[in-house]
Order: sequence, then C-alpha cells, then structure tokens
Amino acid sequence: PTAVRVADLLDRMTLPEKVGQMMQLDSREDLDDHVLCKHVGSILHTSPERVLRAHDLTSQTRLRVPLLIAEDCIHGHSFHEGATIFPTQLGMAASWDPELVEQVARVTAVEAATTGVHWTFSPVLCIARDLRWGRVDETFGEDPVLIGELAAAMVRGYQGDGLQDPTAILATAKHFAGYSETQGGRDASEADLSRRKLRSWFLPPFERVAKEGCATFMLGYQTTDGVPITVNSWLLDEVLRGEWGYQGTLITDWDNVGRMVWEQKLQPDHAHAAAAAVKAGNDMIMTTPQFFEGALQAVEDGLLAEEDLDRAVTRILTLKFDLGLFENPRRPDPERQRVVIHRDEHVALNLQVARRSIVLLRNDGVLPLTKGKIAVVGPLADDAQTQLGDWAGSSGQADWLPDGQPRDMITTVLDGLRELSAQEVTYARGADILTLEPDPEGDTFPDGQPRPRIVQPCAPNPELIAEAVANAQDADYVVAVVGDRIELVGEGRSTATLDLIGGQIALLDALAATGKPLIVVLMASKPLVLPDSARDAAALLWVANPGMQGGRAIAEVLHGLVEPSGRLPISFAAHAGQQPTYYNQIRGQHGTRYADLTQEPAFAFGEGLSYTTVEYGDLHVETTVLRPDEVVKASITLTNTGSRPSRETVQVYVSDAVTSVSWADKELKTFTQVDLEPGETAKVDLELPVAACTIVDQHGTRVVEPGEFVLLVGPSSKDLRRAEFTVKPQF
Ligand code: IFM
Repeated sequence: PTAVRVADLLDRMTLPEKVGQMMQLDSREDLDDHVLCKHVGSILHTSPERVLRAHDLTSQTRLRVPLLIAEDCIHGHSFHEGATIFPTQLGMAASWDPELVEQVARVTAVEAATTGVHWTFSPVLCIARDLRWGRVDETFGEDPVLIGELAAAMVRGYQGDGLQDPTAILATAKHFAGYSETQGGRDASEADLSRRKLRSWFLPPFERVAKEGCATFMLGYQTTDGVPITVNSWLLDEVLRGEWGYQGTLITDWDNVGRMVWEQKLQPDHAHAAAAAVKAGNDMIMTTPQFFEGALQAVEDGLLAEEDLDRAVTRILTLKFDLGLFENPRRPDPERQRVVIHRDEHVALNLQVARRSIVLLRNDGVLPLTKGKIAVVGPLADDAQTQLGDWAGSSGQADWLPDGQPRDMITTVLDGLRELSAQEVTYARGADILTLEPDPEGDTFPDGQPRPRIVQPCAPNPELIAEAVANAQDADYVVAVVGDRIELVGEGRSTATLDLIGGQIALLDALAATGKPLIVVLMASKPLVLPDSARDAAALLWVANPGMQGGRAIAEVLHGLVEPSGRLPISFAAHAGQQPTYYNQIRGQHGTRYADLTQEPAFAFGEGLSYTTVEYGDLHVETTVLRPDEVVKASITLTNTGSRPSRETVQVYVSDAVTSVSWADKELKTFTQVDLEPGETAKVDLELPVAACTIVDQHGTRVVEPGEFVLLVGPSSKDLRRAEFTVKPQF
C-alpha cells in the first residue's frame, strides 16, 4: 500500500512541488519562504518552536505533505537545552561495547523524538587516520571492524523497533566515503583514494550498516579522483545501489551541490549542478537554496528528465509514509519532553558510558587513590564546555544554535572529586590554553562580524603555575586535567599541531618537578602528543570528551570505586610528524622509521590498563586445516590474577602470512568482553569464519587467499598470543 499511496501523491504533485520535496533548508532562515514558496521536504537545525511553526506552515500548503525534521543528534540530542549529552563517539568507542552504544542511541532517539525530530545525522563511520583532522572526535577510531560493529549498534538504537515506532528516528551513515582521508588532515579537501583502498578499509563499515538497515546515507564533502563524492557514480550507482542493493535515501552534505558551482568550479551554473546531483542518485539536497530554480531550469533546458526527479521524490515520500508522518507528523510534545528528557535512567546510562570510556594508560600503583590531600590543577578540571565536546549546545558551534547546556547538569572533574573525596581537595587553574582572534580572511557571521577562528596559544603564566605548584607541594597527590579545548575541534577546525598547547606543558613540567605523585587526566578530543612529564607521570588517563557525567565517572575511577576498562580505539602518536600511526598499515610501512624517530606509537590501538591484572593462557585452535567455507574455532584461558573484578576486552586479529598484494600485517576481526571475579579463570571460546579472513586483490575483489594464517588473540594490538591455521583451496 505504501507504494500505491506514494505513486498517487507523486501523480498529483507539480514540478516545483517535486523539486521542493528534494530540498532540506536551514530552519533558522526564512521558514515561510522555505515551506510556502520552495515547498521544502525537510528542515534541519531546529528547535521545538520552529518545528511547530513549520508544521503550521505545511498545513497551509496545497498537498500538506509532512516535513522531515532533521538534526545533528551526535552524542545525545546535541542542541536541545538540558538533553542528555553523552561522551563523544570516540569516547564511546573506548568502551568497545556495542550494547552500551546501542542504548545511547536509543536514549538519544527517545529524547529527540519528544522535540519533533525525525532524523539524525549520526553515526559517523569515517576512519580516523590523520590525527590532525578536526573531526577525529566524531569517529569510532581507526579500525573498520570496530567502527562497523559500533555503528551498526547505533543504527539499531536510533531506529528502534522499526520506523513506525514513534520513538524511532532515522539514522544516517556518514560521510560516505573516505572523507577523513583528506590531505594533511585538512577538512573537506581532496581525498586521494584508490578504489582498491576504498574497498579495503573505508567501505566495509558502510556496507555493514547498509545491511543493518540504516535508513539514510550522507555523502561527504571530499573529492576523489577529481569527482566530488556527491556525483561519483562509481560509488553511488555501482557500489552502493548496485553491489550492495542499498534502497535507502541519500542526502548530500551542507551545500555540496552549490559548491560545485561557486567553489569547485565543476559546473557552470545551478541548473547543471542540479542535473548532475539528481542524475548521480541524490535524493535530498542539503542547504542549497539555488537547487530550486536550478532544477526547474534543468528540466526546462532538457538537462534533466522529470522521471529522474520522480525517483528521488518517491524515496523521500516512502520514508515519510514509513514513518507514518501523514497520520501523525510527530509534533514536539512539551509534556513528554518534561518527563523524558534527562530522566534518571538516562543520567544513569550516561554515567555508565562515561565510566566505560575512560582509558588508563599508565599507573605506577598510585591509583586508586587512598587517603591524602588532593591538589586538582589544570585548565580543564572545571571546563564544562570542553567536557561535553563538540556538537553540544553552546560549543564552538554556538554560532549555529544558541542553546547552551545548563551548568548544573554537568559534573566537572573538580565537582566530581569534591563530591566523592573524603579528603581535602584544592584547585588551581595553573595555565590558560588559547585565545581566539578574528580571521581577516575567514567567513562572517550572518550579521557581518568576522568569525573568531584563529587560535592563539597562551604563553605559560608564571603566577598561575606558582599557585598550582604551591597547592601541589601542600598535597599528597596532584590531579592535572589538561588537553585540547573545544575551539580546536570540529568541522573546519583541523589542527597542524598535536601538542598540548598554551601553558599546559610548562605547568606539567613544573608539577612533575615537585616530586609529588602526578596523575594526568587527558581530556582531549583526539590523541595528542604528550610531553615526558605526562608520559612518565605516576598515572595517565585519557578520557576523551566524557559528557555531562564525565567528571563524576573520572572521580570514581581515580578513587577505585569503578574499575577502569576502556581500551584505545585509536593509536596515540609519539610525534605529530609520524602521521599516520594507525596499527593496520600495510606491511613494509609500519616497520620503516625516521632517521630521528621510530614509527612506534606512544600508545597502540587496543591498549588500556585496569587496576587488576588478567593473564592470557595459550591460544588453542581446534582444527588447523580448513576450507574457505569453514569456521576457525579457538579457545583461550583468562585468569584474573588481581584482587578486583575486571571486564576484559578480548581482541581477535588475523595475519595472512603471504598475500598477492600488499596488505596489513594484522587486522582486528572480532572482539568479546569477559567479566572476571578476582582469582577467577574462564575459558573463552572464539569462532571466526574463514570467509572473514579476506584481502582485496589487485582487481578490487575481496577474496580469501588459501595458505597460512595466524590467529592472534590478546588484550591489545601489541600484546597477542598466536596460533597458526591453514586454509586449503576450495574444490
Ligand atoms: O551533519 C553535518 C555534517 O556532518 C557536516 N556538515 C553539516 C551537516 C549538518 O549539520
């Protein structure tokens, strides 16, 4: 029946109404024009008030086709004041826990749905390899399997029990595909990716979520092989629609279609740009107002057939029928907002995720803290905004949406330690990080003011350092909270440096020189390069941007109320010049070194400590000679040799001994988590289909190449037990 209803409606639409249906415009601009003149199919960046107004305007239109309301709900309902803001995607990835991530997405959907949102632009499936990129925080890290599993979980969480469920929102897999591979980590530039490279690493997570039923895909800003992804017919037609049979809806990124005219100079005018975008298979065109006139012109000039538009409009109308919007446009519901948003279970889940996202990288035994006075220092110890991370109300994106998050909903590290510590806690900021200056060449706010975009690192401030050192000398422990600030994170905010900027290194050096046990809490959106005073500190934790409950979770871990269990979803470089440092580089690359530095990362993918210790026994493979259609069955014994309960992430990698094309020396294939009581031993059974042990050959085909393989199992990519198996050719 949906197909019949769609066909009937399509039949009654005029050409301008069809073109409008393909458009998504910014709700903060002229809503009357968007809805009444351009007949838009969707709006984004909303508030409940604007959503209500947009629905009212829609009821004045001829066909009253309901609007799709879209928002970037990235790690929580990002821009709704008082919504539950979770750790960033990179922080969540450190939990290596798909179930937990699914719950985060479910809660986000439930909260967002009360405000009238139908569609989120999440999850991000980009692979973070160049740490200078400003959007590393939005990713699940550097490994395609981990990304695919966590993204699939998020899709399940957003889309709930099916689109008819009023708490389901549409998920978006973005940014298809290879957006993170831009040159020098600079945002949205050319991504020089071969098709084989795309198929090897960048496409598999997207294929995973396409199979999971992810309703929409967003196309990235980047250009590959001279062609913007928005009009890349190989990727869109051949791979996505053809090979994967993807039936979902495609949306461009922000003004991708307009950029082909005004920025990339690939199309002479908006009529040609509109024709190219529609013919390439795009369904929804984000924030290109000129698409309206352009597409009408294109049809008039014969550049575009009305049937091409019909295909896209059919997809969009189908989504609207699938969501049941014609019967119930799912208007914002203030009563449900009051009951649902930030309710106790959501806060409890947020705390749980924050705990699980903390990665302990070093501990000489100082943690957990016992009795004694604590000197809390550092510019991020009480920085609520940085703790929330990007896409969180009044972040660096404040120029987009003005709502902030209420300070009293956020527990900073200082708050958390003050609340949880029986002993005395002092505080000194110790350093400033940066100031912002207007960029004379940058773009402007709508009122014409230049955006403050150039970051100036602050010089070390001797007075602030002296105050922090005095507190440290008077304390038994120093907890220093340092990292990067929100202005160094986000779209268009890639950084040339990976250092702790401003007065932070001088502060850490001075604190280390006091000889007091120094515990460094690195609140950094992405891996930073750490000075010796941090790497050699008594303890070091990376907490990403841990969300509203982050400070409490960190205090709990420091005091040993919670066992740290996070594992790195991304490698930490020892020097910015090592870029990239991801673990699964092709053989012959990772082994090479600079004349002045090895290529070893400071901390490797998968690493992380707990307060307890878990020992891995020998790895045993049941049958060592297999056919490509069989399953490798293996087992390993784990023993918790410490005195505290643990959650261990067992990581399973495969190394293909000899390959016909250059390939990674090892690749994560699967992972599982095991809870162990002190002294407990558990046998972990592992199963891995041989069909997962593939490479992409020189023709771009994914194949299992018969021969010798090594199964590698352990607590991190650099600490693995091995067992060999052989794959025979299939007859
Ligand atoms: O969803 C985002 C995308 O990730 C980057 N450009 C803007 C979009 C809408 O806000």
